[in-house]
Amino acid sequence: MARRVASVSDYRALAKARLPHFLFEYLDGGSYDEITLRRNVEDLQKIALRQRVLRDVSRIDLSTELFGKRWAMPVGLGPVGLAGIYARRGEVQVARVAAAANVPFALSTVSGCSLGEVAASGHVPWYQLYFVKDRGFVADLIQRAKAAGCGALVLTVDLAVPGSRYRDSRAAGGGPRRMAQLLSRPQWLWDVAVHGRPLNLGNLEAIVGKGAPLSDFQSWIAANFDPSVSWADVQWVRNQWDGPLIIKGILDAEDALQATAARADAIVVSNHGGRQLDGVVSTAKALSRIVEAVAGQVPVLVDGGVRSGLDVVRMLALGADFVLLGRPWAYALAGAGGAGVAHMLKLIDAEMRVAMALTGTTRIAELNGDVIDRS
Ligand code: FNR
Repeated sequence: MARRVASVSDYRALAKARLPHFLFEYLDGGSYDEITLRRNVEDLQKIALRQRVLRDVSRIDLSTELFGKRWAMPVGLGPVGLAGIYARRGEVQVARVAAAANVPFALSTVSGCSLGEVAASGHVPWYQLYFVKDRGFVADLIQRAKAAGCGALVLTVDLAVPGSRYRDSRAAGGGPRRMAQLLSRPQWLWDVAVHGRPLNLGNLEAIVGKGAPLSDFQSWIAANFDPSVSWADVQWVRNQWDGPLIIKGILDAEDALQATAARADAIVVSNHGGRQLDGVVSTAKALSRIVEAVAGQVPVLVDGGVRSGLDVVRMLALGADFVLLGRPWAYALAGAGGAGVAHMLKLIDAEMRVAMALTGTTRIAELNGDVIDRS
Protein backbone atom coordinates (compact mmCIF):
# COMPACT_ATOMS: atom_id res chain seq x y z
CA MET A 1 0.00 0.00 0.00
CA ALA A 2 2.54 2.54 1.18
CA ARG A 3 4.80 1.84 -1.84
CA ARG A 4 2.26 3.32 -4.22
CA VAL A 5 1.90 6.42 -2.08
CA ALA A 6 4.36 9.23 -2.77
CA SER A 7 2.76 12.20 -1.06
CA VAL A 8 0.16 13.48 1.39
CA SER A 9 -2.21 14.10 -1.52
CA ASP A 10 -1.98 10.39 -2.38
CA TYR A 11 -3.08 9.61 1.17
CA ARG A 12 -5.98 12.02 0.70
CA ALA A 13 -7.06 10.03 -2.37
CA LEU A 14 -6.77 6.77 -0.42
CA ALA A 15 -8.82 8.20 2.45
CA LYS A 16 -11.48 9.31 -0.01
CA ALA A 17 -11.68 5.84 -1.47
CA ARG A 18 -11.84 4.16 1.91
CA LEU A 19 -13.96 6.28 4.20
CA PRO A 20 -17.74 6.48 4.10
CA HIS A 21 -18.64 9.59 2.13
CA PHE A 22 -19.96 11.61 5.11
CA LEU A 23 -16.82 10.91 7.14
CA PHE A 24 -14.46 11.93 4.33
CA GLU A 25 -16.44 15.14 3.90
CA TYR A 26 -16.15 15.83 7.64
CA LEU A 27 -12.38 15.31 7.51
CA ASP A 28 -11.63 17.06 4.25
CA GLY A 29 -14.04 19.99 4.39
CA GLY A 30 -13.89 23.53 5.69
CA SER A 31 -16.52 26.10 6.55
CA TYR A 32 -18.82 27.91 4.10
CA ASP A 33 -17.15 28.32 0.69
CA GLU A 34 -13.81 27.01 1.95
CA ILE A 35 -11.98 30.19 1.01
CA THR A 36 -9.72 30.07 4.06
CA LEU A 37 -9.15 26.35 3.63
CA ARG A 38 -7.82 27.03 0.12
CA ARG A 39 -5.88 30.13 1.23
CA ASN A 40 -4.03 28.11 3.86
CA VAL A 41 -2.68 25.79 1.19
CA GLU A 42 -2.19 28.31 -1.61
CA ASP A 43 -0.55 31.13 0.38
CA LEU A 44 1.94 28.68 1.80
CA GLN A 45 2.75 27.25 -1.62
CA LYS A 46 3.34 30.79 -2.92
CA ILE A 47 6.32 31.23 -0.59
CA ALA A 48 9.35 30.97 -2.86
CA LEU A 49 12.55 29.69 -1.32
CA ARG A 50 16.09 30.68 -2.26
CA GLN A 51 18.05 27.97 -3.98
CA ARG A 52 21.60 27.95 -2.61
CA VAL A 53 24.48 25.78 -3.80
CA LEU A 54 27.86 24.35 -2.75
CA ARG A 55 27.38 24.72 1.00
CA ASP A 56 28.20 21.18 2.26
CA VAL A 57 24.78 19.83 3.14
CA SER A 58 26.01 16.29 3.78
CA ARG A 59 24.81 16.34 7.40
CA ILE A 60 21.33 17.63 8.09
CA ASP A 61 19.93 17.70 11.61
CA LEU A 62 16.16 18.09 11.95
CA SER A 63 16.04 17.69 15.72
CA THR A 64 14.44 20.49 17.71
CA GLU A 65 13.83 21.28 21.36
CA LEU A 66 10.42 22.22 22.70
CA PHE A 67 9.39 22.29 26.38
CA GLY A 68 12.76 20.89 27.41
CA LYS A 69 12.46 17.80 25.21
CA ARG A 70 14.38 17.00 22.04
CA TRP A 71 12.06 15.92 19.21
CA ALA A 72 13.09 14.20 15.97
CA MET A 73 11.84 17.17 13.96
CA PRO A 74 9.86 20.37 14.54
CA VAL A 75 6.65 18.63 13.51
CA GLY A 76 3.77 17.29 15.57
CA LEU A 77 0.42 15.63 15.02
CA GLY A 78 -2.23 18.17 16.03
CA PRO A 79 -5.63 17.35 17.50
CA VAL A 80 -8.17 15.92 15.05
CA GLY A 81 -11.59 14.97 16.34
CA LEU A 82 -13.10 11.53 15.72
CA ALA A 83 -9.76 10.17 14.45
CA GLY A 84 -10.42 7.05 16.49
CA ILE A 85 -12.99 5.97 13.94
CA TYR A 86 -10.90 6.59 10.81
CA ALA A 87 -9.13 3.34 11.56
CA ARG A 88 -9.46 0.70 14.24
CA ARG A 89 -8.56 2.26 17.60
CA GLY A 90 -7.15 5.08 15.52
CA GLU A 91 -5.67 7.28 18.20
CA VAL A 92 -3.94 4.37 19.91
CA GLN A 93 -2.26 3.52 16.61
CA VAL A 94 -1.26 7.14 16.09
CA ALA A 95 0.13 7.47 19.62
CA ARG A 96 2.37 4.43 19.03
CA VAL A 97 3.58 5.83 15.72
CA ALA A 98 4.25 9.27 17.22
CA ALA A 99 6.23 7.71 20.08
CA ALA A 100 8.33 5.63 17.70
CA ALA A 101 8.97 8.64 15.47
CA ASN A 102 9.65 10.89 18.49
CA VAL A 103 7.14 13.57 17.53
CA PRO A 104 4.36 14.95 19.74
CA PHE A 105 0.74 13.93 19.29
CA ALA A 106 -2.17 15.92 20.73
CA LEU A 107 -5.26 13.89 21.56
CA SER A 108 -8.50 15.74 20.83
CA THR A 109 -11.17 16.26 23.50
CA VAL A 110 -13.58 14.72 21.01
CA SER A 111 -11.40 11.69 20.37
CA GLY A 112 -12.61 8.24 19.53
CA CYS A 113 -10.36 6.52 22.10
CA SER A 114 -10.10 7.68 25.70
CA LEU A 115 -7.03 9.35 27.16
CA GLY A 116 -6.60 6.33 29.46
CA GLU A 117 -6.66 3.90 26.56
CA VAL A 118 -4.18 5.96 24.54
CA ALA A 119 -1.84 6.53 27.50
CA ALA A 120 -1.84 2.79 28.20
CA SER A 121 -0.33 2.25 24.77
CA GLY A 122 2.93 3.58 26.20
CA HIS A 123 2.83 7.03 24.65
CA VAL A 124 1.19 9.68 26.79
CA PRO A 125 -0.08 12.30 24.35
CA TRP A 126 -0.48 16.00 24.78
CA TYR A 127 -4.11 16.67 25.65
CA GLN A 128 -6.29 19.12 23.73
CA LEU A 129 -9.00 20.80 25.75
CA TYR A 130 -12.23 22.41 24.65
CA PHE A 131 -14.44 24.45 26.92
CA VAL A 132 -17.92 23.07 27.41
CA LYS A 133 -20.59 24.73 29.51
CA ASP A 134 -20.16 22.30 32.39
CA ARG A 135 -16.97 23.62 34.04
CA GLY A 136 -16.91 20.71 36.48
CA PHE A 137 -16.49 18.48 33.46
CA VAL A 138 -13.67 20.66 32.09
CA ALA A 139 -11.91 20.66 35.49
CA ASP A 140 -12.18 16.88 35.56
CA LEU A 141 -10.61 16.58 32.10
CA ILE A 142 -7.69 18.75 33.26
CA GLN A 143 -7.20 16.52 36.30
CA ARG A 144 -7.28 13.44 34.08
CA ALA A 145 -4.66 14.94 31.77
CA LYS A 146 -2.52 15.73 34.81
CA ALA A 147 -2.95 12.24 36.27
CA ALA A 148 -2.04 10.64 32.94
CA GLY A 149 1.15 12.73 32.81
CA CYS A 150 0.36 14.59 29.58
CA GLY A 151 3.36 16.63 28.48
CA ALA A 152 1.27 19.65 27.49
CA LEU A 153 -2.28 20.94 27.57
CA VAL A 154 -3.45 22.39 24.25
CA LEU A 155 -6.30 24.79 24.95
CA THR A 156 -8.25 25.40 21.76
CA VAL A 157 -9.88 28.82 21.80
CA ASP A 158 -11.21 29.32 18.27
CA LEU A 159 -14.41 27.33 18.68
CA ALA A 160 -16.66 29.54 20.80
CA VAL A 161 -19.29 28.53 18.25
CA PRO A 162 -18.83 25.97 15.47
CA GLY A 163 -18.27 27.18 11.91
CA SER A 164 -20.97 26.21 9.46
CA ARG A 165 -19.81 23.40 7.20
CA TYR A 166 -21.86 23.02 4.06
CA ARG A 167 -20.27 19.72 3.13
CA ASP A 168 -21.39 18.12 6.41
CA SER A 169 -24.93 19.33 5.89
CA ARG A 170 -24.97 18.03 2.32
CA ALA A 171 -23.53 14.66 3.33
CA ALA A 172 -26.04 14.32 6.18
CA GLY A 173 -27.92 11.07 5.90
CA GLY A 174 -24.87 9.17 4.70
CA GLY A 175 -23.71 8.19 8.15
CA PRO A 176 -24.32 5.37 10.56
CA ARG A 177 -27.37 5.31 12.78
CA ARG A 178 -25.47 4.01 15.76
CA MET A 179 -22.88 6.75 15.49
CA ALA A 180 -25.50 9.45 15.28
CA GLN A 181 -27.20 8.05 18.37
CA LEU A 182 -23.94 8.16 20.26
CA LEU A 183 -22.95 11.59 19.06
CA SER A 184 -26.27 13.18 19.87
CA ARG A 185 -26.17 12.07 23.50
CA PRO A 186 -24.93 14.88 25.77
CA GLN A 187 -23.22 12.20 27.85
CA TRP A 188 -21.12 11.14 24.89
CA LEU A 189 -18.10 13.32 25.45
CA TRP A 190 -17.88 12.30 29.05
CA ASP A 191 -18.21 8.61 28.23
CA VAL A 192 -15.43 8.80 25.71
CA ALA A 193 -13.11 10.80 27.93
CA VAL A 194 -13.68 8.70 31.01
CA HIS A 195 -14.53 5.20 29.85
CA GLY A 196 -13.10 4.96 26.37
CA ARG A 197 -16.55 3.98 25.18
CA PRO A 198 -18.83 4.27 23.30
CA LEU A 199 -17.01 5.42 20.20
CA ASN A 200 -14.78 2.42 19.84
CA LEU A 201 -16.57 1.58 16.64
CA GLY A 202 -13.13 0.93 15.21
CA ASN A 203 -14.25 -1.36 12.49
CA LEU A 204 -15.33 0.79 9.59
CA GLU A 205 -17.55 -1.93 8.19
CA ALA A 206 -19.69 -1.52 11.27
CA ILE A 207 -20.42 2.08 10.42
CA VAL A 208 -20.81 1.98 6.65
CA GLY A 209 -24.15 2.03 4.94
CA LYS A 210 -26.48 2.60 7.87
CA GLY A 211 -27.87 6.12 7.61
CA ALA A 212 -27.89 9.01 10.06
CA PRO A 213 -26.37 12.46 9.92
CA LEU A 214 -23.07 13.69 11.21
CA SER A 215 -24.87 17.00 11.53
CA ASP A 216 -26.16 15.60 14.85
CA PHE A 217 -22.58 15.89 16.03
CA GLN A 218 -22.43 19.52 14.92
CA SER A 219 -25.69 20.26 16.75
CA TRP A 220 -24.34 18.60 19.85
CA ILE A 221 -21.25 20.80 19.70
CA ALA A 222 -23.40 23.89 19.19
CA ALA A 223 -25.50 22.98 22.23
CA ASN A 224 -22.66 22.11 24.60
CA PHE A 225 -19.70 24.32 23.71
CA ASP A 226 -19.53 27.59 25.58
CA PRO A 227 -19.69 30.90 23.70
CA SER A 228 -19.24 32.84 26.97
CA VAL A 229 -15.62 31.69 27.26
CA SER A 230 -13.13 34.53 27.87
CA TRP A 231 -9.55 35.26 28.95
CA ALA A 232 -10.70 34.84 32.56
CA ASP A 233 -11.33 31.18 31.74
CA VAL A 234 -7.78 30.86 30.42
CA GLN A 235 -6.60 32.06 33.84
CA TRP A 236 -8.90 29.49 35.43
CA VAL A 237 -7.23 26.75 33.37
CA ARG A 238 -3.75 28.16 34.02
CA ASN A 239 -4.36 27.96 37.76
CA GLN A 240 -5.13 24.25 37.50
CA TRP A 241 -2.35 23.24 35.12
CA ASP A 242 1.34 23.62 36.00
CA GLY A 243 2.76 22.04 32.85
CA PRO A 244 3.16 23.61 29.43
CA LEU A 245 -0.05 25.38 28.40
CA ILE A 246 -0.41 25.89 24.64
CA ILE A 247 -3.15 28.21 23.41
CA LYS A 248 -4.34 27.06 19.99
CA GLY A 249 -6.35 29.15 17.56
CA ILE A 250 -4.55 32.50 17.60
CA LEU A 251 -4.69 34.44 14.33
CA ASP A 252 -4.23 38.00 15.53
CA ALA A 253 -1.12 39.67 16.97
CA GLU A 254 -3.09 41.37 19.77
CA ASP A 255 -4.57 38.04 20.84
CA ALA A 256 -1.09 36.54 20.76
CA LEU A 257 0.11 39.17 23.21
CA GLN A 258 -2.90 38.55 25.43
CA ALA A 259 -2.05 34.86 25.41
CA THR A 260 1.49 35.57 26.62
CA ALA A 261 0.06 37.92 29.27
CA ALA A 262 -2.20 35.05 30.36
CA ARG A 263 0.98 33.02 30.98
CA ALA A 264 0.62 30.64 28.07
CA ASP A 265 3.81 28.70 27.46
CA ALA A 266 3.25 28.64 23.70
CA ILE A 267 0.67 29.53 21.09
CA VAL A 268 -0.54 27.82 17.94
CA VAL A 269 -1.25 30.19 15.08
CA SER A 270 -4.30 28.50 13.61
CA ASN A 271 -7.65 29.11 11.94
CA HIS A 272 -8.72 25.54 12.70
CA GLY A 273 -7.75 24.41 9.23
CA GLY A 274 -10.28 26.75 7.60
CA ARG A 275 -13.14 25.11 9.48
CA GLN A 276 -14.26 28.09 11.56
CA LEU A 277 -14.56 31.63 10.15
CA ASP A 278 -14.32 31.38 6.40
CA GLY A 279 -12.62 34.38 4.83
CA VAL A 280 -10.05 34.94 7.58
CA VAL A 281 -6.42 35.24 6.62
CA SER A 282 -4.31 32.14 6.02
CA THR A 283 -1.96 31.09 8.79
CA ALA A 284 1.03 31.53 6.46
CA LYS A 285 0.06 35.21 6.07
CA ALA A 286 -0.76 35.79 9.76
CA LEU A 287 2.36 34.08 11.06
CA SER A 288 5.09 36.68 10.52
CA ARG A 289 3.16 39.50 12.20
CA ILE A 290 2.45 37.31 15.20
CA VAL A 291 6.05 36.11 15.47
CA GLU A 292 7.17 39.73 15.41
CA ALA A 293 4.68 40.72 18.13
CA VAL A 294 5.53 37.78 20.39
CA ALA A 295 9.24 38.59 19.95
CA GLY A 296 10.51 35.30 21.31
CA GLN A 297 8.62 35.43 24.62
CA VAL A 298 7.11 31.99 23.93
CA PRO A 299 7.47 29.42 21.13
CA VAL A 300 5.13 30.00 18.21
CA LEU A 301 3.61 26.87 16.69
CA VAL A 302 1.53 26.97 13.53
CA ASP A 303 -0.82 24.75 11.55
CA GLY A 304 -2.97 25.00 8.44
CA GLY A 305 -2.34 23.95 4.88
CA VAL A 306 0.91 22.09 5.50
CA ARG A 307 0.95 19.25 2.99
CA SER A 308 4.65 18.41 2.63
CA GLY A 309 8.05 18.69 4.26
CA LEU A 310 8.67 21.60 1.92
CA ASP A 311 5.67 23.37 3.50
CA VAL A 312 7.12 22.70 6.96
CA VAL A 313 10.35 24.39 5.85
CA ARG A 314 8.32 27.34 4.53
CA MET A 315 6.51 27.77 7.87
CA LEU A 316 9.81 27.61 9.77
CA ALA A 317 11.32 30.17 7.38
CA LEU A 318 8.34 32.43 8.10
CA GLY A 319 9.26 32.31 11.77
CA ALA A 320 7.43 29.34 13.31
CA ASP A 321 9.25 27.29 15.95
CA PHE A 322 7.18 24.15 15.42
CA VAL A 323 4.59 22.97 12.91
CA LEU A 324 1.48 20.86 13.54
CA LEU A 325 -0.19 18.65 10.94
CA GLY A 326 -3.96 18.14 10.92
CA ARG A 327 -5.55 16.54 7.87
CA PRO A 328 -2.29 14.98 6.57
CA TRP A 329 -2.04 12.45 9.38
CA ALA A 330 -5.78 11.82 9.43
CA TYR A 331 -5.73 11.11 5.66
CA ALA A 332 -2.84 8.69 6.20
CA LEU A 333 -4.60 6.99 9.12
CA ALA A 334 -7.83 6.60 7.17
CA GLY A 335 -5.97 5.46 4.06
CA ALA A 336 -3.50 2.99 5.53
CA GLY A 337 -3.80 2.88 9.34
CA GLY A 338 -0.86 3.46 11.67
CA ALA A 339 1.57 2.26 8.98
CA GLY A 340 0.27 5.05 6.78
CA VAL A 341 0.92 7.66 9.47
CA ALA A 342 4.45 6.32 10.02
CA HIS A 343 5.10 6.46 6.28
CA MET A 344 3.61 9.96 6.01
CA LEU A 345 6.03 11.14 8.72
CA LYS A 346 8.92 9.56 6.79
CA LEU A 347 7.81 11.47 3.68
CA ILE A 348 7.75 14.74 5.65
CA ASP A 349 11.20 13.99 7.05
CA ALA A 350 12.64 13.20 3.62
CA GLU A 351 11.03 16.23 1.98
CA MET A 352 12.36 18.51 4.71
CA ARG A 353 15.87 17.18 4.19
CA VAL A 354 15.75 17.82 0.45
CA ALA A 355 14.33 21.32 0.94
CA MET A 356 17.01 22.14 3.50
CA ALA A 357 19.84 20.74 1.37
CA LEU A 358 18.75 22.78 -1.64
CA THR A 359 18.36 25.96 0.40
CA GLY A 360 21.84 25.36 1.78
CA THR A 361 20.77 24.84 5.39
CA THR A 362 21.69 22.00 7.72
CA ARG A 363 20.08 22.88 11.05
CA ILE A 364 16.53 23.96 11.94
CA ALA A 365 17.85 27.16 13.55
CA GLU A 366 19.15 28.25 10.12
CA LEU A 367 15.63 28.33 8.69
CA ASN A 368 14.70 31.99 8.88
CA GLY A 369 13.72 34.85 6.59
CA ASP A 370 17.05 34.57 4.72
CA VAL A 371 15.77 31.37 3.15
CA ILE A 372 12.84 33.16 1.50
CA ASP A 373 13.13 34.79 -1.93
CA ARG A 374 11.58 38.24 -1.56
CA SER A 375 12.08 39.30 -5.17
C1 FNR B 1 -9.66 19.50 13.40
N1 FNR B 1 -9.08 20.42 14.26
C2 FNR B 1 -9.26 20.29 15.62
N2 FNR B 1 -8.62 21.12 16.49
C3 FNR B 1 -8.76 20.97 17.82
O1 FNR B 1 -8.16 21.73 18.58
N3 FNR B 1 -9.55 19.98 18.32
C4 FNR B 1 -10.23 19.11 17.52
O2 FNR B 1 -10.93 18.22 17.99
C5 FNR B 1 -10.10 19.27 16.12
N4 FNR B 1 -10.77 18.45 15.28
C6 FNR B 1 -10.54 18.51 13.92
C7 FNR B 1 -11.13 17.58 13.08
C8 FNR B 1 -10.83 17.60 11.73
C9 FNR B 1 -11.46 16.57 10.84
C10 FNR B 1 -9.93 18.55 11.20
C11 FNR B 1 -9.57 18.57 9.74
C12 FNR B 1 -9.37 19.49 12.03
C13 FNR B 1 -8.15 21.44 13.74
C14 FNR B 1 -6.74 20.89 13.63
O3 FNR B 1 -6.17 20.70 14.90
C15 FNR B 1 -5.84 21.86 12.86
O4 FNR B 1 -5.96 23.15 13.40
C16 FNR B 1 -6.10 21.90 11.38
O5 FNR B 1 -6.51 20.65 10.89
C17 FNR B 1 -4.83 22.33 10.65
O6 FNR B 1 -5.03 22.43 9.31
P1 FNR B 1 -4.63 21.27 8.27
O7 FNR B 1 -3.27 20.72 8.64
O8 FNR B 1 -5.70 20.23 8.38
O9 FNR B 1 -4.65 22.00 6.98
